[in-house]
Parts: sequence; C-alpha cells; structure tokens
Amino acid sequence: MLITGGAGMIGSTIAHLSVAQGAQVTILDAMLPLYGGNRFNLRGILDDIQFVEGDIRDLNLMRRVVPGYDYIFNLAGQVSYVDSNTEPLLDLDINCKGHIQALEACRLENPQARLLFASSRFVYGRIEYNPVDENHPFNCLSIYGIHKLAGEKYYRFYHEAYGLNTVSVRIANPYGPRQQMKHSKYGILNWFVRLALEEKPLTVFGDGQQRRDYIFNADLAEACVALMLSPGTEGRVYNLGTGTGMPFIEMAAMVAEAVPGTEVRQVEWPQDRYFVETGDYLSDITRITAASGWQPKTSLQEGIRRTVNYYQEHQEEYW
Ligand SMILES: NC(=O)c1ccc[n+]([C@@H]2O[C@H](COP(=O)([O-])OP(=O)(O)OC[C@H]3O[C@@H](n4cnc5c(N)ncnc54)[C@H](O)[C@@H]3O)[C@@H](O)[C@H]2O)c1
Repeated sequence: MLITGGAGMIGSTIAHLSVAQGAQVTILDAMLPLYGGNRFNLRGILDDIQFVEGDIRDLNLMRRVVPGYDYIFNLAGQVSYVDSNTEPLLDLDINCKGHIQALEACRLENPQARLLFASSRFVYGRIEYNPVDENHPFNCLSIYGIHKLAGEKYYRFYHEAYGLNTVSVRIANPYGPRQQMKHSKYGILNWFVRLALEEKPLTVFGDGQQRRDYIFNADLAEACVALMLSPGTEGRVYNLGTGTGMPFIEMAAMVAEAVPGTEVRQVEWPQDRYFVETGDYLSDITRITAASGWQPKTSLQEGIRRTVNYYQEHQEEYW
C-alpha cells in the first residue's frame, strides 16, 4: 500500500497498524515544515517500509510512484482551517490541485487501485442538527472546508467518469500520539496536552458546553483500513467519528485530570473565533459501521491518558 502524507499523525498510525498486519507499506511525504510530517512518527517501522520524500503536486513523480499498489491512502494535506483562510491559494494548491494530480496519476498509471481520501467535518461548517449524517447541508465556514468538499467531489468524479475505486471519510476531531505539537492550529485536545505538560492553564471560551466528537487516532486508523477493505463503498463518503459528543469543558477537565495540577480557566469568546464556531458537532456513524463493521474502542479518558504518556516520553521529538 501507498500512504501519501504518511509521516503525519493519521498516515503514520495507519502505517504502524498495517506493518503489524503484514502489509508492504510505502510512504510519500513532502515533509513541509508547517505540517505534521515527522520521521519519529515512523520509529520502529522505518526498516520495514519504503520512504519517498516528495510532493503530491508533482505529477511526474506521482506517475512514477503510484504503479503497483492495491491500496492508496491519500492523506497528504494542508490541515489548518485557520491558515486556509489567511493563505487560501496554498490550501487550494495542496488540497485541490495536489489531489487532482494524485487522481490523474492513478487514472494514467494505476486505475485498479483502491483510493481513500481524508475529508473533514469542516465541510458541514455551521451545524443545523445533531447527530450530523452525511446528508447534512454544506455550510462551510472556512476555505479548508470548501476545498475538502471539492476534494470529495473530485474523488467521486474520478469514480463516475473513469471507474476509479475511490472512497472518502469526513473525519471529526482526531487526537492522539504523533500529532505535531509545534503550533495550536491543529486539534485543540493535543494542544491542551502540551499546555498541561508545560504547566500552563487550559483556556475555555464561554461556558464550554459546545460538544465535539473526539476520535483517538488508533481507532481512526482502524476505521480507514476497515473501510478500505469493505466492498460496496466505491464512490461513497462516510462520517468518521465516535458517534458521541463530549462537552469541550469536560474534555479540558479530563486533560487536567491526566496531568495533575493543571488549571482550567474560562474566558469570554473572542470575536474572531466566534465566527468559525460551528456549534455542537456529533457524527452519525451509522453508515460507516454498517459498511465496514468497524466500531470505535477507546474511551476519551483512556485516549487522553495514552496521549499524555506518549508526549511525556517523547516531548523532545515534538516541541
Ligand atoms: N488532524 C485533523 O484535525 C484532521 C481532521 C480532519 C481531516 N484531516 C485530514 O487528514 C489528513 C491527515 O492529517 P493529519 O492529522 O495526519 O495531519 P499531519 O499534518 O500530521 O499529516 C499530513 C501530512 O501531509 C504531508 N503533506 C502536506 N502537503 C503535502 C504535499 N503537497 N505532498 C506530500 N505530502 C504533504 C505533511 O508533511 C504531513 O506529514 C489531512 O488530509 C487532513 O486534512 C485531519
């Protein structure tokens, strides 16, 4: 199998899982400094995999790399919705043009491959009802959400027009070991873990009652692999979360409990952040569980404990 963006949090977790299951794994990653690519994420499997440093926007490279793989996880991406609004053309370049190049390479060189695209809950933007099923309207509040929606549509188009075997997942709020911790523009849960380990307070806006669907990355990786192997899912899109909503303030309290001495501080909503607040989000995962048989396993408390332990042990590789 090939995993683009495989040195990042989700891709490397899929790589560890797949190597343990006996798969032959190649990772392609551009190792762009703003994102989560980190060779340490591949610790323990570097001798078992092939690693290609390269960019999905490079069509010639992609045409050379994609032949021969049965499964291609296309996880390469610009991941920050905040940056997507300040650097919309960069987001367009990676999340749209990059994925068209990846699809073109597959159409030309490996049309039999099964392809998975990592989309996001941000395609839904402002939430109208919960739990959110796949038919919820697209009220995108970020350029990132708009481009992820376009990405899904490219994958579907290549399925319908050229018969490529594609599937997309709309990922909720992932967290866990191997996420970058250099800046706070990715998942807030991991950022809270960093703050707690640095003995800084965790800031919660407003009453902190907004619900989120936090999914542990090991569960997420298992879901991606299970869906990849599930027949009848071609051309479709699936929500990927836990199906349970956790109030933000309770998540913060769990991080504080895992790192004793951490203070949780409540403050007013800043105006600029309020604009992108989507409202409660809770995935309806009926479709993915029915299609793949996968179920999330890790409780939020357990996942936070494992995340804290990981960064306590390997802080110098991520700070
Ligand atoms: N982390 C989240 O909150 C989240 C939520 C929903 C969806 N996703 C999506 O899941 C995918 C994986 O995210 P992640 O959390 O593992 O982030 P990550 O930053 O840890 O991994 C992304 C990887 O993609 C690589 N990359 C970026 N641009 C590239 C390019 N042009 N060519 C090749 N490699 C490139 C980066 O170097 C990085 O290693 C992304 O597409 C992301 O948009 C992430």
